[in-house]
Amino acid sequence: MQKFLLAVASAVMMTQTALAHDAVIRAGYILDPETGTYATDQYILIDKGRIDDVGDWTDYDSDEDYIDLSEKYVLPGLLDAHVHLTGDSQVHGYKRLTRSTPRQAITGVRNASRTLDAGFTTVRNLGAAGYADIALMEAIEDGDVPGPRIIASGPSLGITGGHCDNNLLPAEYDVKADGVADGPWALRAKVRENKKYGARVIKFCATGGVLSKGTDVGAQQFAFEEMKAIVDEAHLNGLKVAAHAHGAKGIETAIKAGVDSIEHSSFITDSGIEAAKRKGVYLSMDVYNSDYILSEGAKAGMLEESLNKERRVGKIQRESFRRAVKAGAKMAFGSDAAVYPHGQNGHQFAYMVKWGMTPLQSIQAATINNADLFGMSADVGTIEIGKFADIIAVEEDPLENIHILKTVSFVMKNGEVHKK
Ligand code: ARG
Repeated sequence: MQKFLLAVASAVMMTQTALAHDAVIRAGYILDPETGTYATDQYILIDKGRIDDVGDWTDYDSDEDYIDLSEKYVLPGLLDAHVHLTGDSQVHGYKRLTRSTPRQAITGVRNASRTLDAGFTTVRNLGAAGYADIALMEAIEDGDVPGPRIIASGPSLGITGGHCDNNLLPAEYDVKADGVADGPWALRAKVRENKKYGARVIKFCATGGVLSKGTDVGAQQFAFEEMKAIVDEAHLNGLKVAAHAHGAKGIETAIKAGVDSIEHSSFITDSGIEAAKRKGVYLSMDVYNSDYILSEGAKAGMLEESLNKERRVGKIQRESFRRAVKAGAKMAFGSDAAVYPHGQNGHQFAYMVKWGMTPLQSIQAATINNADLFGMSADVGTIEIGKFADIIAVEEDPLENIHILKTVSFVMKNGEVHKK
């Protein structure tokens, strides 16, 4: 008899443990980014940081405590393909020389929290000095500080004197950025070095840029052989490659070399768009940036030269964005946060809609498309069983009012509530 009672007791306990979840959410409307449809009044069960089950609330029978999002629009955590968490939007141009690498890492702690607050639960950090981004990524993974899941690149690779070098001081100071190398073998060594110190993606500069001193934004940097060496070595090591590229020739050369995404893509021609489509290369276009640079950049220390370049680039980039969307290119969501303040990442959605996307397409860019670009479709991008419990909520239907993604009201990452 006693044995029987024990067996019953343990069976009861087992059902109770099976029933107790790390978290339960009641969701008013869950968006499926694949189809643009909502499932209404759903439960989401969360265990060990992942989604354990999703279904109709009416079928859910338990008196466990739950997080009540029954009035809200619930989306998968957002992804940004291009941020610089250790960079500060108030510190550009010569002001940047005052920031040590440890100081930048601390800036990164603040920005990581702001980014997560804004609903961005996974980001690619494309370029940081001194591996500060890798340190930040590790600190977040260790649970020391809050922040998004980071795919960090470490230092961006670039030519001597190029956009990814530091050209602010004359020769006697002998300053050069960490990722500078010339020639295919030196670049393979740089890729290996980044990998050695923890990089999970490789970033290189294929053309000049807006915010660097003395670079021509339209001009190609790196010869094809150099780009090919970077890409081949990265892919050998299982790392994807993101190429900063504004100018048409640099874009096409980087695509030919086999990169996975083109960042900025400002002067992309129709043949560049076709090449990107043919090779399945994502275009990550920071169409929010221009307004911020032109209104706030001077105060933040951006060089007059940079503001002049931006006056040319911004408008053309947005027209290119429209053409690329129309042509059906694969579009990522990459904002280049740090140029503008971290936490405003979601401001870019409305710009993407203004320049040719439907609201759903802009959300797809920041969810399923980026998940694919990151090689993480099994883990992020939709609210589905088995994926990370990265879940956000907003007060209004973002398909009706895309601006609502500027003010995300609930954020969960890995099953842990960051904001409510
Ligand atoms: N980091 C980029 C660069 O310096 C920012 C470009 C911003 N401008 C733009 N229109 N998206 O080149």
